[in-house]
Amino acid sequence: MARVLAIESSCDETACAVVDGSQVRASIIASQIEIHARFGGVVPELASRHHLNAVVDVVERARVAAGIVWEDLDALAVTEAPGLVGALLVGVQMARGLALATGLPLHGVHHMEGHLFSAVLGDDRQAAMPFVPHVALLVSGGHTELVDVAGLGRYRLLGATRDDAAGEAFDKGAKLLGLGYPGGPIIDRLADEGDPNAFAFPRGMLSREGFEFSFSGLKTALLVHLQRQGQPSTRNELVDLCASFRQAIVDVLIDKARKAMIATGRDRLHIVGGVAANAGLRRQADALASSAGITVVTPALRYCGDNAAMIAAAASARIDAGLAAGVDVQAATALDDPRYAVDGGAP
Ligand code: KG4
Ligand code: ZN
Repeated sequence: MARVLAIESSCDETACAVVDGSQVRASIIASQIEIHARFGGVVPELASRHHLNAVVDVVERARVAAGIVWEDLDALAVTEAPGLVGALLVGVQMARGLALATGLPLHGVHHMEGHLFSAVLGDDRQAAMPFVPHVALLVSGGHTELVDVAGLGRYRLLGATRDDAAGEAFDKGAKLLGLGYPGGPIIDRLADEGDPNAFAFPRGMLSREGFEFSFSGLKTALLVHLQRQGQPSTRNELVDLCASFRQAIVDVLIDKARKAMIATGRDRLHIVGGVAANAGLRRQADALASSAGITVVTPALRYCGDNAAMIAAAASARIDAGLAAGVDVQAATALDDPRYAVDGGAP
């Protein structure tokens, strides 16, 4: 198993980690959430600047926490796409500098392939699990996709969102309710206290065939509700709104995932990305596992959001398989792009 140090800087976390395969030796994350929170979303220029300020320190902290010297590593890796270009470039230039200084090979990793590996990371439940065929529900701030994963580099996109991603829907909903950024975790916490049936919100694309998603109608429905009824005047009303809003998103994600399991005949569902931390989604995923007789895997909470351990693990697997490539920040951003495909790609 290749020992890899990876850097992740695609959005608003500056992260560095060291792994041996799927075993994490160190994972350091410097979050910029407080910087962007007052603007209600990520400001790209500020993200790049703060990555610049943080990256040297974060890398050194990860190396020290892993208890290694540079000679102990087999390779370096970095997120090359997709993401904010200015933010990505900070991680990439740091990694290029390290590669020059140490003589270590440097590999570029697709951020969403990293998220796929978050499901097999860590020292707990999934430690020894190989990257077996499965359906992945990728749910983050920028993506909502169902992908049939036949193996490493063999990804077939089943369907994606036509408009907002699930995390984006949570964030926009929270913004409308004046709840702060990022809204996903805030709505999730409040939703646990509320009644998910209190308000009837639309389930976008639920009755349509296929695996496309749409969450913009849900956002509009909340906006129209607030225009008519005003902001919630009691805590009860607020938690009921949050619970009903979360339920509308989770219902669609789970039902489309269930149908994808049937369509592909797979018996494992991996739910990954920042929204995989959602308590309502995790509960309903467990219920699906029982009712459909499938295995559902969600990452440990600390690996749901952006981190570098998942990037390092993806690079390590590619190195072991002889499939690692250099860095190309201009790479196409889709996970099923030929650049990331192995054996013709699709299952
Ligand atoms: O994967 P991630 O950290 O970054 C991207 O690659 O986008 O995902 C961030 C997204 C945000 O939209 C955030 O609101 C959402 O994940 N998120 C959640 C929860 N925790 C984070 N959404 C719902 N419930 C949560 N508990
Ligand atoms: Zn991400």
